[in-house]
Amino acid sequence: MDLMEYQAKELFAKHGVRTTLGIVATTPEEARAAAEKLGPCVVKAQVKAGGRGKAGGVKLAKTPDEAFEHATNILGMEIKGLTVRRVLVTPATPPVEEYYFSFLLDRANRQYLCIASVEGGVEIEEVARTNPEAVKQIPIDPGTGVDEDKARAIVAEARFPAELTDQAVAMVLALWRVFVDEDATLVEVNPLARLDGDVLEALDGKVTLDDNADFRHEDHAAFEIKEETDPLEAKAQEKDLNYVKLDGEVGIIGNGAGLVMSTLDVVAYAGERHGGVKPANFLDIGGGANAQVMADGLDVILGDEQVKVVFVNVFGGITACDEVANGIKGALEILGDHETKPLVVRLDGNNVAEGRAILQELNHPLVTLVDTMDGAADRAAELAGS
Ligand SMILES: Nc1ncnc2c1ncn2[C@@H]1O[C@H](COP(=O)(O)OP(=O)(O)OP(=O)(O)O)[C@@H](O)[C@H]1O
Ligand SMILES: [Mg+2]
Repeated sequence: MDLMEYQAKELFAKHGVRTTLGIVATTPEEARAAAEKLGPCVVKAQVKAGGRGKAGGVKLAKTPDEAFEHATNILGMEIKGLTVRRVLVTPATPPVEEYYFSFLLDRANRQYLCIASVEGGVEIEEVARTNPEAVKQIPIDPGTGVDEDKARAIVAEARFPAELTDQAVAMVLALWRVFVDEDATLVEVNPLARLDGDVLEALDGKVTLDDNADFRHEDHAAFEIKEETDPLEAKAQEKDLNYVKLDGEVGIIGNGAGLVMSTLDVVAYAGERHGGVKPANFLDIGGGANAQVMADGLDVILGDEQVKVVFVNVFGGITACDEVANGIKGALEILGDHETKPLVVRLDGNNVAEGRAILQELNHPLVTLVDTMDGAADRAAELAGS
């Protein structure tokens, strides 16, 4: 789960990272009231996307009326397709210098990585491209982590100004606590700002929490913002389904992430022949494709108004095709009248003949059985495009 800036800062504060929490506002009036308390302030869009400043979502307000005005403009604004529903009002503390700092999980190298640069601010990607030397990448051994010595080494390598060394070391250690104690896969501060009086403070924060560790962080559930989650994705989550909503017309169900990914490809490819239809979602029902799981999956996909047809692509393995076919049959019974859109089914693998026989016998008016993946993708795209 990605956190909003104000949530990331709450975790920062909890672990001793120097930051200012500010006040969250959902209306211009609340933003004005916050500015009355704080004095000159910055009104910042809270969305789970980068580049807020560039999009006009971070504005300085000298007076409460200005804060009201900025909040009026920023609330409701779209940044990278996300609607801004809240702003963070935080005291204006113009940075003297801006640095960049992050810890992240480096999956490819099976270790953690620290990225640090004294040339931070909004354009870190640009710095990485034009002046890669200025962006230090420091591997961290997961076995030993970051102790005081390692923190000093990081600070030295990143070339933080000498007079800030001790503060920077404390900052690195505190951010490491956030990373480890909260089970994060990303902790990023940009800008890590040098303020007037040589104070080092996290002016922005991005944290991604590892959902696999949710069971040991009951408090993380409170970070979930219901209205931010797509209602279909929320429903899928409730049913423990691996679902991602996309923007097309062909609903997809498959077993195994790899198979589903390639199904998306073949459907997108076939879609080009049928008026440019596209896959509507990713849904991996995993190994156990029983009737209930199939019904849950279909239920979520059919709830998507954009969906015109569903392509069920299953390769029977440990769960054999006849079980899957019975799953589809059972799902159609469970769904009853709700099932009003055509299903194109491709079954292959273990016990394929038995599986196909079950569906042929069922002879359901909405179910089309196609033997090959390409053929089924084409049929599904054709039905969606007509
Ligand atoms: N409290 C503050 N006081 C003064 N200036 C600020 C404050 N917070 C941020 N800024 C300035 O605004 C810039 C952008 O802010 P911030 O980093 O929070 O958003 P962003 O980087 O545009 O968003 P994102 O991190 O989503 O890309 C900062 O680099 C900093 O110069
Ligand atoms: Mg930033």
